Amino acid sequence: MPSILETYEAMHGGSRVLAAQAATVFPSGVTHDARAFSPFPVYIQRADGPRKWDVDGNEYVDYIGGHGALLLGHNRPEVMAAARAAMERGTHFGASHDLEIQWGQQVIQMVPCAERVRFTSSGTEATMMALRLARAYTGRERLVKFVEHFHGWNDQVVGHLVEDDEHPHSVGVPDALYEHLTVLRDGDEAALETVLKRRDTAAVILEPSGAHWGTHPVSPEFLRAIRRLTAETGTLMVMDEVITGFRMAPGGASERYDVIPDLTTLAKILAGGFPGGAVAGRSEILDFIELREADTDWNSRRRIAHQGTFNANPVSAAAGVTALRLIAEGDHCAQADATAALLVRSLNDLFRTASVPGSAFATSSMWHVNLGYAAPKPADVEWDAAEEPHGIVPALTRPLRQALYNHGVDLMGNGGMVSSAHGEREVADTVRTFRAAIDDLRAEGLLG
Ligand SMILES: Cc1ncc(COP(=O)(O)O)c(C=O)c1O
Repeated sequence: MPSILETYEAMHGGSRVLAAQAATVFPSGVTHDARAFSPFPVYIQRADGPRKWDVDGNEYVDYIGGHGALLLGHNRPEVMAAARAAMERGTHFGASHDLEIQWGQQVIQMVPCAERVRFTSSGTEATMMALRLARAYTGRERLVKFVEHFHGWNDQVVGHLVEDDEHPHSVGVPDALYEHLTVLRDGDEAALETVLKRRDTAAVILEPSGAHWGTHPVSPEFLRAIRRLTAETGTLMVMDEVITGFRMAPGGASERYDVIPDLTTLAKILAGGFPGGAVAGRSEILDFIELREADTDWNSRRRIAHQGTFNANPVSAAAGVTALRLIAEGDHCAQADATAALLVRSLNDLFRTASVPGSAFATSSMWHVNLGYAAPKPADVEWDAAEEPHGIVPALTRPLRQALYNHGVDLMGNGGMVSSAHGEREVADTVRTFRAAIDDLRAEGLLG
C-alpha cells in the first residue's frame, strides 16, 4: 500500500510542476507564510460555495475560506454580481464615490463601537492605524498585547517572546520599538492591572476570540476585565476583529460578548472576498485623521496623515457592502456556527468510537482539533477544560494534512473556518475524510 506521502505526490502532479516554477520566483515558493507546505503546496484552480478544486481535478471541502474572508462561501452570487457591476463602472476613480459611503454606513450600523470609519487596504494596515490613533489620542507610547495574539505583520506588535525575555524580537524590527511594547499572558488580570495602573499605556490590543482565531480561547470575563481596567486607567481598548468581525455575530465578538471597545480593526469579511480593511470606533479618536481648514498647527503637527491608493476601492466596496447587508439581514453567522457545532460533535463522536487520542472544539464558526495526545473533549462544543488545548502534535501535523488532502479536505492550521455555504454534506464528507486519514496515520504507525 502506498504511503500517505506517496499518495499525495501521485495525486498532485500538476501542483508539483507549478511548485517547481514558483520556487524560482518566490522565497519558499509562496506568497503567504501559511501557504507553504511540504513536499509542495496544492495549487487551486477554482472554488465554489464550500468547496474548491485543484489543478489535478481533486475536490476539497474548504476550511480556509479565503483566510477567513468568506463567511458566505466562495462566489456568493449577490456579491459577485455587485463586484462585476462595480468593475463595469471602473476599478479606481482616485476620488470619492457613492459605494464607500454605503460601505461605511453599513459598518457603523453593524459594529457596536463604530461612530466613524476609515478604510485601509488590509488588516495589517488597520492595526497600524488603530495603534497610531491610540498613541495620538492618549499622548502615551506603551502598547500592551498578549502572547500569540496575531495582529498581522505590523512592526509595532510582531515578534515572539522567547522564554525569560522581557521584550519580543523580530529580525528587521529595531529592538528600540519594543521598549514601548509589553507582552502579557491573556487571562492574567493582575499583571494587566499592574501595567495599566502606571497610566502610560496608550492601548491594549487583543484578538477577542483568543490567540489565532480561538486556537487558544480566552474567557469573556477576561474581555470584560480588559474593558474595565482600560476604562479606569484612560487606556484605549482595541479589539482586533479582523477575523471575528461579522463572523461571531453580525456585530462581531463585540456584539456576541457585549464588550464595546474604543476601536475595532476590521478586514477579511468586511470586503466580501476582496482586499480591504478598516478602523472603526469613537469619533473623537478617529477624528485625529480629520483635516482642519486654516488650522496649520493641527494639520501639520497633531493630526495623523493617512493615504493609501486602494483605500475604499470601489470593487471591494461593492462586494463588501453587499456581503455585510446579507450578513446583517440573514442568519449566516448562526448558520455557520450551527454547522461548526455539528462538525465538532461529529468529530468527537468519531474520536470516541474509533478510540482516537484527540478532540475537537469550536468558538462560533472557527473550529480546532487536538490530535495525538489525551486531549479533554468539551462537554459540548466550546473548549471548557482548565488546561490549554495543545493542538495537533508536531509529528502528526504534516502527515495528517497530507492525508486529509488525499481524501478531500483542506484545513487551515489545526481546523478551519466554516461558512454559511457549508452544510450537513460537508460535515459528513469531513468526518469520512478524517476517518480515512486516521486509518492512514495508524497504518504508518503514527497514531495510537
Ligand atoms: C486577528 C488578525 N489581525 C490582523 C490580521 C492581518 O490582516 P491582513 O492579513 O489583512 O493584513 C490578521 C490576518 O490573518 C488577523 O487574523
